[in-house]
Amino acid sequence: MHQRILEAAQQIAAQYLDTVASRHVSGTATRAQLLKTLGGPLPTGAIDPVAVLNDLARNADPGIVASAGPRYFGFVTGGSVPVTVGADWIASAWDQNGAFFVMSPALGVLEDVVAGWILELLGLPRSSGVGFVTGAHMANFTCFAAARHEVLRRVGWNVETHGLQRAPRVRVIAGAEVHVSAVGALRYLGFGSEEIEIVPSDDQGRMRADALEAALAKSTGPTIVSAQVGNVSSGASDPIGEIVESAHRHGAWVHVDGAFGLWAAAVPELHSQVKGVETADSWATDAHKWLNVPYDSGLAIVADAAPHRASMSLKASYLQRGADEERIGTDWVPESSRRARAVPLYALFRALGRDGIIGIVRSNCALARRMADRLSTAKGVTILNAVVLNQVLVHFRDDETTRRIIAAVQAEGTCWAGGAVWQGKQVMRISVSNWSTTEADIDRSADAILKCLKASS
Ligand SMILES: Cc1ncc(COP(=O)(O)O)c(C=O)c1O
Repeated sequence: MHQRILEAAQQIAAQYLDTVASRHVSGTATRAQLLKTLGGPLPTGAIDPVAVLNDLARNADPGIVASAGPRYFGFVTGGSVPVTVGADWIASAWDQNGAFFVMSPALGVLEDVVAGWILELLGLPRSSGVGFVTGAHMANFTCFAAARHEVLRRVGWNVETHGLQRAPRVRVIAGAEVHVSAVGALRYLGFGSEEIEIVPSDDQGRMRADALEAALAKSTGPTIVSAQVGNVSSGASDPIGEIVESAHRHGAWVHVDGAFGLWAAAVPELHSQVKGVETADSWATDAHKWLNVPYDSGLAIVADAAPHRASMSLKASYLQRGADEERIGTDWVPESSRRARAVPLYALFRALGRDGIIGIVRSNCALARRMADRLSTAKGVTILNAVVLNQVLVHFRDDETTRRIIAAVQAEGTCWAGGAVWQGKQVMRISVSNWSTTEADIDRSADAILKCLKASS
C-alpha cells in the first residue's frame, strides 16, 4: 500500500521538478479558478489515495508558483537541492518528533551533528546553543527571548518566573532598516514596536555605528541591540564588529538577524562584509533561503547556551529527560512537537560539503552582479544599491514605470521579481538565491525584463 501511494507521489514530484525550469514562473490561475477545482463540500467518505494525489497535483498545478525554479527572484527564496527533497521525504516517512531525545535518539544526534557543522561553517562559538525553528522570524523570537532573559538576569530579575510587567525597563535599539520579523518577534515578547529606539542607517541600509554609540551613551541598564547582516532589499550588512564592540562596552546584548546574510561569514571573499559577526551574542538565520533546503527551516543560535535554554525549556513529569548529553530539542525552540528539520540539512552537508555550500552563495552573488550589469546597460535603468551580495534593486525611469514593469514581468512569466520602496523610490527587487540558477537564466531573465521595459515606452 505504501509503495503504490509513494510511487504516485514520487512521479508527480519528479515530473514537477524536472520541468520546473520551463514553467510560467507565476501561478497562472486566479483564486476563483482554484477554488472551483480545489474546493467543494466536506468529503464524506474515502476515495482511492492515488486518485487523491493525482487530483491534487492536477488541480493545484495552475496555482503553483515555480519558486523552486532557477528564475524565481522574489523575496529571498531558496529552492531545494534534490538530495534535501529526498531527505525531507524520508523525514516525513519516519515522522519523528524532535521534542525529546527519547522520542528519536537518531534525530537528537542528527541535530547535534548538524548544529556543530553549522557553527563551524559560520565560524561561530562552538559552545553556542542551536535551535531548529521554522525560519528567521521564529529564530529572531528565540534569540530575543534569550536576550531578554539574560539582560534582566544581570539586574536580578527572572523574567520567566516574574514576567515583564513589573520588570526593570529593557531598552531595545535597532537600525532604521530593521526587518519587520524582528519587530514582530519583539512584539510577541512584550516590546511594543514604538518602544524600539531606532538609530539611523546609511544609504545602503546599514545601521550607523556612531549613531548607535550615541544612543547607548544616553543611559545605562538592560539593553538589547538588534543588528542585521544582509538587508532584505540591498543585501548590505551593518558594521557588525563595531556595533558589537560598542554595545558590549555598554553592557548590551547584540542580536544579529542574518536570515541570508549570515552565510557570507562562510565565504572567504565575502567575510569582510560581516567582520566581527562571531563576537555577537545571538544570530538568527534561515536554511530555506541560502542553504536551499525545503521549507521550513531556520536556525536560532545563541553564544551562551545557558540563557538560550533558560528562556525556552519546559518541564513536566511526563516529559522524559535522560542523560545530560542527550539533546532535548525543545530546550532550544519555542515549540514542543516539531518535525525533523535537521534531516534535510544533514543530507545537504553530506552531499555538498563545505565547498558545495559556499559554491551556492558565491555563484548567486556573481549572478546578481551579472543581472545588475546586464540591466544597467539599458537606457532608463538605474541600479540603486551596491550589489555586494545577492540582492539587486532596479529602478526604471520613474515609480509608475517601475510598478508597470514589475506587473508586466510577473505576467510574462519568464522570471518573477517583486517590488518594494527603497529610500523613497519604487524598485524591482531581484534576489538570486536558488542553487540551480545559471548565467543563461540570468541572461534570459534580463532580456525578458528589458523587453517589458521596451514595450512600455
Ligand atoms: C533580514 C531578514 N530577517 C528575517 C526574515 C524572515 O525570514 P522567514 O520568513 O524565513 O522567517 C527575512 C526574510 O526575508 C529577512 O530577509
